[in-house]
Amino acid sequence: MSLTLSNRPHPKADFPIFDPAGPNAGIAYLDSGASAQKPKSVIEAVSAFYATGYANIHRGVYKLSANATDAYEGVRAQVARFINAASDQEIIFVRGATEGLNLIAATWGRAHLKAGDAVLISALEHHANIIPWQILRDQMGVELRIAGLAADGGIDRADFTAKLADGKVKLASFTHIANATGAVLPVADLIAEAKAAGAIVSVDGCQAVPHRPVDVQALGCDFYTFSGHKIYGPTGIGILYGRLPVLETMPPYQTGGDMVATVRFEATEFLDPPQRFEAGTPDIAGVIGLGAAIDYIQSLGWAWIEAHEKSLLAHGTAVLSKIPGLTLLPAGSERSGIFSFTVEGVHPHDLGTILDHHNVAIRAGSHCAQPLLNEFGLTATARASLGLYNETEDLDRLAEAVMAAQRMFAPKQRA
Ligand SMILES: Cc1ncc(COP(=O)(O)O)c(C=O)c1O
Repeated sequence: MSLTLSNRPHPKADFPIFDPAGPNAGIAYLDSGASAQKPKSVIEAVSAFYATGYANIHRGVYKLSANATDAYEGVRAQVARFINAASDQEIIFVRGATEGLNLIAATWGRAHLKAGDAVLISALEHHANIIPWQILRDQMGVELRIAGLAADGGIDRADFTAKLADGKVKLASFTHIANATGAVLPVADLIAEAKAAGAIVSVDGCQAVPHRPVDVQALGCDFYTFSGHKIYGPTGIGILYGRLPVLETMPPYQTGGDMVATVRFEATEFLDPPQRFEAGTPDIAGVIGLGAAIDYIQSLGWAWIEAHEKSLLAHGTAVLSKIPGLTLLPAGSERSGIFSFTVEGVHPHDLGTILDHHNVAIRAGSHCAQPLLNEFGLTATARASLGLYNETEDLDRLAEAVMAAQRMFAPKQRA
């Protein structure tokens, strides 16, 4: 069962990896939170760029290079429209969310923080939004504060407010959607509160951008970062959005070619943002593929994507809740795209392996969020995460395979 899109087949047909005659026939792919599969249009855009449009950018005086530059810069403008940034200058191409967050810590953090200042994150973060701040703590004497986990699996709002109260928090950095549980944080409210307390605010949008429209101006954050490979684009490319007045205060991240106005042995003058933060030859083909991925998402439209996900979430919750011994990790007041669960008597890694024998692909482990799992008293869970190509049948197959694993691990009756 699936919602229909007028005049076109279900999006699953757009993804060659799911070809019923191909090597992965019948796979129930439930690991899009780790990385999403690629539609044909993205694969073809990257391939066509290499086949007919490839040259290095920004330097060539010949047509091929000028066209490649136009295509690359065109995607920057497209990304700006996609997340409603005020200008293209606010869009920095990075390798992914990990690099985006490290860039903020290494540039804004080192330029603006000093010993005694505090950085506030939450208990629901991916390691990529924990470790860069730990390093500033250990190297610069910055205090790292953690807004706790609420009993319902959301963020503890009272703790968040309390940790902002003394005015020492200069940067708040939190996830939009927790990758280990699917909890949606009330980011608009958190941003407003942190801004009112005088902090710069960074949002890790990795798990949000594949699932919902994001408007960075409406949110009011200073930074927003996400990865291309989770929104059906290539690996190796991601976006760091930064508000221009903030980017202008930041020194470069890496240095080298393409980010300089003049270089003399005595001194170097850097370009303005975003070029200041894009040293060396970038992942040009990745950028082209990212543009095609955004086109693909927009061709389906957010209305369909969100309605489809809502029906998948309802179905998944219903079928998983019926399984005795399965505990779904709570996700606060709103869940998006992710079911994280444990099954009594079956280790998540065993579960993942058995599910694979049933051609159901999920993730097992700590999901790069060990501190959050520790809060739940766990070291690992099984995680099924949704993409726009999933169908309710994939979730039925998940439930059946979990029950088959339970039967395998059930204590044998003595004769
Ligand atoms: C919430 C969140 N933040 C950051 C990351 C890191 O993304 P990447 O590995 O693409 O840099 C991930 C990836 O799983 C994530 O889910």
